[in-house]
Amino acid sequence: MELSVIFMFSGTLLFLATSPTNAQAASPPAPILPPTPAPAPAPIPPYVNLTDLLSVAGPFHTFLNYLESTKVIDTFQNQANNTEEGITIFVPKDSAFSSLKKPSLSNLTQDQLKQVILFHALPHYYSLSDFKNLSQLSPVSTFAGAGEFALNFTDVSGTVHLDSGWSKTKVSSSVHSTDPVAIYQVDKVLLPEAIFGTDIPPTPAPTPAPEISPAADSPSSELTREGHAPGIAPPNSAYRISNLGIWIQMVLAVSGVLVLFL
Ligand SMILES: *[C@@H]1O[C@H](CO)[C@@H](O)[C@H](O)[C@H]1NC(C)=O
Ligand SMILES: *[C@@H]1O[C@H](CO)[C@@H](O)[C@H](O)[C@H]1NC(C)=O
Ligand SMILES: *[C@@H]1O[C@H](CO)[C@@H](O)[C@H](O)[C@H]1NC(C)=O
Ligand SMILES: *[C@@H]1O[C@H](CO)[C@@H](O)[C@H](O)[C@H]1NC(C)=O
Ligand SMILES: *[C@@H]1O[C@H](CO)[C@@H](O)[C@H](O)[C@H]1NC(C)=O
Repeated sequence: MELSVIFMFSGTLLFLATSPTNAQAASPPAPILPPTPAPAPAPIPPYVNLTDLLSVAGPFHTFLNYLESTKVIDTFQNQANNTEEGITIFVPKDSAFSSLKKPSLSNLTQDQLKQVILFHALPHYYSLSDFKNLSQLSPVSTFAGAGEFALNFTDVSGTVHLDSGWSKTKVSSSVHSTDPVAIYQVDKVLLPEAIFGTDIPPTPAPTPAPEISPAADSPSSELTREGHAPGIAPPNSAYRISNLGIWIQMVLAVSGVLVLFL
């Protein structure tokens, strides 16, 4: 009884005596570990707040408003935050938007507007000197896609020229250019051929109407449309012609009668 009490007491004494040494033994490795991970997070995310950058430079308020209203800002910020590819954005000044003449952005649908804004960025970081090589790779796909949504680049004695097919412009200054994020000011709003290829942007509006009917029905509906059109038109013209014929016959008959009487 007494012995076990002594053992327990001495046991707790031993534990208390050894635990500080344990703590001391544990603490030395801890300071060794932090120095290695500490420098690692620092170089990984150099967070660039695109909204912040664009609101202080420029003025780029119109472009920024479009970025936010179409939610494209999230796409771009996500690319800047989370990819090694990075992003290159071409930003027109407010004056470029106000000097837009014929093709006004106000006539575009929300989807088309989003495409136009996406068209202003490349899903890769390019320094200004990289564009010399890009001219050999043209056309370069934008965030809006390839083909009619691609941009051509040419280097004209150190100045980067852009060609969308619809708009030709150049980089007039560099707003920001540090590895994941490049922002360049351009002189004009970039209008993709895919949307502005025809003279009047809203022309594609009437075409979606026939596409509403299912694919299987569309040929028959087209047939009936074609069938009706020639079917209705000829009777009308034939009726007019026969009407005209009757009038001519009547006039001839009346004049014939008049001739007989005279
Ligand atoms: C980015 O900047 C904008 C404008 O300064 C600010 O409203 C927003 O909170 C910032 N976003 C982050 C994630 O810091
Ligand atoms: C980008 O990173 C910032 C800072 O870490 C964060 O606040 C923001 O929500 C991120 N945005 C996106 C779209 O990933
Ligand atoms: C664009 O819309 C405005 C009014 O919203 C209209 O006056 C103008 O004719 C439209 N432009 C085209 C090309 O249809
Ligand atoms: C760019 O092109 C030049 C020759 O035109 C070449 O020497 C250089 O390696 C290229 N750079 C890259 C990043 O491809
Ligand atoms: C872009 O360059 C390609 C290849 O040189 C050419 O076929 C295409 O027509 C050009 N597009 C524009 C919009 O200039």
